[in-house]
Amino acid sequence: MKKILLNPAQIITCDTKGKNFKRGKELNDISLIEDHSLIIENGIIKDFAPGTSLKINSSDIVIDIKDKVILPGLVDCHTHSAFAGSRANEFRMRLAGATYEEIAEKGGGINTTVSAVRNSSIEELINLLSQRVNYFISQGVTSLEIKSGYGLDFENELKLLQSINYLKDIFPIDIVPTFLGAHTFPPEFKDNHKSYIDLIIDELIPYISLHKLAKFCDAFCESTAFSSSEVEQIFVKAKESGLQLKLHTEQFNNIGGIDIALKHKAVSVDHLEVLEELKLNALGNSDIVCNLLPGVSFFLDYQYAPARKLIENNAIIALATDYNPGSSHISNLNFIMSLAAIKMKMTIEETINAVTINAAKAISLNEVTGSIEINKQADFAVFDTSDYSDIVYNVAKNLNILTIKNGEIIYNKNRFLFSRE
Ligand code: NIG
Ligand code: FE
Repeated sequence: MKKILLNPAQIITCDTKGKNFKRGKELNDISLIEDHSLIIENGIIKDFAPGTSLKINSSDIVIDIKDKVILPGLVDCHTHSAFAGSRANEFRMRLAGATYEEIAEKGGGINTTVSAVRNSSIEELINLLSQRVNYFISQGVTSLEIKSGYGLDFENELKLLQSINYLKDIFPIDIVPTFLGAHTFPPEFKDNHKSYIDLIIDELIPYISLHKLAKFCDAFCESTAFSSSEVEQIFVKAKESGLQLKLHTEQFNNIGGIDIALKHKAVSVDHLEVLEELKLNALGNSDIVCNLLPGVSFFLDYQYAPARKLIENNAIIALATDYNPGSSHISNLNFIMSLAAIKMKMTIEETINAVTINAAKAISLNEVTGSIEINKQADFAVFDTSDYSDIVYNVAKNLNILTIKNGEIIYNKNRFLFSRE
C-alpha cells in the first residue's frame, strides 16, 4: 500500500543531490518541482510521479493537495523550550531601559528561570513542554531540538533532560535533546566556577552519556558566562563521552568561542550577532553550521548576525527560533523566516533552506530528513497557498495545514478526510 500526495501546486524539495546541506550560493536554490505527485511507501519518500503517468491502485491512500505547497518538514534546530515560569517582569525592565546583560549580572535572567525550574515537578515541566511541542507541530515542524540549561545542578539538569526524553518517546516527531549545563553559573557556584565545571565534567556528562539522555552538549561562551578555556574543558569531556558539540557564541562578545568550536569540530555555532570579519573565512571553509537566531536581535532590539557576509563567504547557514523566556520569547518559526528576510536580507529561498536541510544538519539529522529526496523520511509541511513566497510574505501567520511525519499525518488543521481511491 502506498500513499500519494496528489497534485500539489509546488513541491519545494531543497534537493542537495545527496550532499545533505547547502552552503553559500547554493542556499538560493530550493529545487522547485511542479506537475508531480509524491509517492510514499513505509514512511519513506519513494518517488516523484509526473501528473500524466500516475497509476492509482484501489489500496492506495490519496491525499489531495491540489493548489497547495509542500515543503520538507520544518526543523527548529535551537530551542530552550524546557522552561518554567515567566520573565515578563524582566521584559518590562528592558522596555524601561535595562539591558539583558545588566539583568543577568544582578542575578536575574537565566537564573530567574533556574529558580522556576527547580520549583517545578517533572510532571509540570512535561505539561508545559507538551503544549509547546504541539504548537511547533502545528507549524509544520517535524524535527525539534530542545536544550536543558535551566536546572544547573545534578538533580534539575536531569529532571529537564528526562522530561525532554519523555516527550521524545511519546511524540511522533524527532526530538533532539541537548545538554546545556554550561548555560550560566548557578547562584551557589557564583564565586566557585571550578567546582561547577567539575560537577559538569565529573558527574553530569558521565551520567548523561551512560543513560543516553542527550545527543549534543552545548555551552554559552560569553564574558557573563563561560570562558573559551572553560568551554574547551567541557568539550573535551563531552566528546570523549560520545556527545556531539554545539556552541552559543559571539552573542555579545568575542572571547574565542569560534576557535574552540572549530578546533573541536562542533556541529554548529549559534548566535554570531557580533561576529568579526576575520572569522568569516574560517567559518566558510568549514563544515560547521552557522545557526542564526534573528528572534534574539528582535526581542532584545540589537544588531543582527551578518547573514549576507557569511553567505558570501560560502558558509552553511541555518535559522532557528531560540525559543526561551528571556532573549527570544518567540516560538513562531515562520516569523523567524520573515525576520531573516527583512532584517538580515536573506532571500525567501535562503530562509527556506535554512529551516529545512541546513537546520537538519545543525542537529545531525540531515541524512534522513530536511529535504524531499528519494529514500529520505517522508517528513512534510503542507501550506495553504499555491506560491511558496507566501510563507515568508505572510509575517507570523501560520499557513501550515498538514504536518506529515514518516508518512503519517500528525496535524490536520482543517480535518480533511482523505480518500482511498
Ligand atoms: O540562546 N544566550 C544564552 N541562552 C539563551 C537565553 C536564555 C535566557 O535568557 O533564558 C539564548 O539567547
Ligand atoms: Fe539559545
